[in-house]
Amino acid sequence: MEDTRTLLDLIYILSAITFILGFKLMSRPATARQGNLLSALGMAAAVVATLMFPEVVRYTYILAGLVIGAIIGALLAYRTPMTSMPQMVGLLNGFGGAASLLVAWAEFVARPEQPVYQGVIIWLTVLIGTVTLSGSLVAWAKLEERYIPTKPVLYPGQRIVSILVLAAILVGGIWFATDTAAPEAMHVLGVVTALAFALGILLVIPIGGADMPVVISLLNSYSGIAACASGFIIQNKLLIVAGALVGASGIILTLIMCKAMNRSVANVVLGGFGADTPGKAQNVAGEIKPIKPDEAYFILEAANSVVIVPGYGLAVSQAQHTVRELMEVMEKNGTEVRFAIHPVAGRMPGHMNVLLAEANIPYDALVEMDAINPTMDTVDVCMIIGANDVVNPAALEDRSSPLWGMPIIEAHRARTVIVMKRSMSKGFAGVENPLFFRPNTRMLFGDAKASLQALVSEFKNSN
Ligand code: TAP
Repeated sequence: MEDTRTLLDLIYILSAITFILGFKLMSRPATARQGNLLSALGMAAAVVATLMFPEVVRYTYILAGLVIGAIIGALLAYRTPMTSMPQMVGLLNGFGGAASLLVAWAEFVARPEQPVYQGVIIWLTVLIGTVTLSGSLVAWAKLEERYIPTKPVLYPGQRIVSILVLAAILVGGIWFATDTAAPEAMHVLGVVTALAFALGILLVIPIGGADMPVVISLLNSYSGIAACASGFIIQNKLLIVAGALVGASGIILTLIMCKAMNRSVANVVLGGFGADTPGKAQNVAGEIKPIKPDEAYFILEAANSVVIVPGYGLAVSQAQHTVRELMEVMEKNGTEVRFAIHPVAGRMPGHMNVLLAEANIPYDALVEMDAINPTMDTVDVCMIIGANDVVNPAALEDRSSPLWGMPIIEAHRARTVIVMKRSMSKGFAGVENPLFFRPNTRMLFGDAKASLQALVSEFKNSN
């Protein structure tokens, strides 16, 4: 019996190591798949080890759950298109919260007499797990653009209501934890669960759909904290470690996203962004200089170095394969082609990396913002495809701009800038972009895919 425990503990330690190594590998696109696989193997070993614990006496429910869960998970993963990944992750976070919530309830129902500290942990797990569940469901519905409006839902006294609900949950927690064996304890925990469900909805509903990726990353962190807390309830060391890793990485990703958007976490979480104003009117000087694909071709054909800045519009027009074709014809023409990747280009973390990887664009052609900026003065042509905010020089030059302070790809420093977009519409932040009016900028209007196809044809026809 002791030997089995030692062996199982050893498997847990090895699993924890695979999670940490997996994270390390996932931080680079070239090794991300290996990282995912390694962590998945570690998790599979941990699940098998857990099933071998002497406490597990019946396998029927566990097996049924495994089979049903695996079928639903596999179907969801196969059917979800890449553009719907944020909502899928959101939903999975919600399930994680629900699992922790169920663990807490099951422990309480099985052993109602709990010491105070254990009562506090059960209450905390129920609170965080339930907020994660309902918050994630709202985030999913907003991103799916179904069931509820994607715009921030605001009403007077919103924060007061949330604070009152939280206060009631705290009072319920004290009541519950001080005597978990009291006859009313189950009802109190039931009310806490219902209030926590309402709180999750109240916290996410005032946040706009476009901010949902940040919220999902935050909810991901909550689901980790809930799992960690549930690990303390059932004394499972691996759950504590894995939960803490998810909790910490979710917070780090949230902070990275907020920093790259020049927003504070509080500004995102308190919500309302994008509810009313489309940003201040900006003073922009200069004139727009539209060009046709054949003129753009002549500029590109003569360039030694081209930097492509992909943005949300590239994902909208699904032009990733066409941009690879253009890259190939330009490279054949002797041009050095690199892609400049802004951390929050698009609408989800790693959006551009995933999009370009789908088209088999080599990883070494993708250059991070901090590495490309120092080289921008030497670039002949910077070609911006469906990006707007992430190249807006107002972030560096205009203190009154909502983008002020946001790090950008300094496209304006290239000798010539070609901007591909459909119209003069603003980007996500809703502000004017002075780059479009600069003397070295040319606007190639049209759907990104159509413009890229026209450019590829120009290159091919000239050979
Ligand atoms: P945006 O500033 O949103 O600009 C995208 C541009 O693409 C628009 O100006 C639009 O102009 C153009 N576009 C749309 N469809 C197009 C099509 N079919 N063909 C050609 N152009 C098209 O994009 P960005 O520069 O990638 O910046 C991302 C923004 O999202 C930032 O403000 C960031 O803070 C925010 N955000 C990012 C994330 C993450 S994690 N990535 C999460 C939340 C928010 P037209 O309509 O004129 O074509």
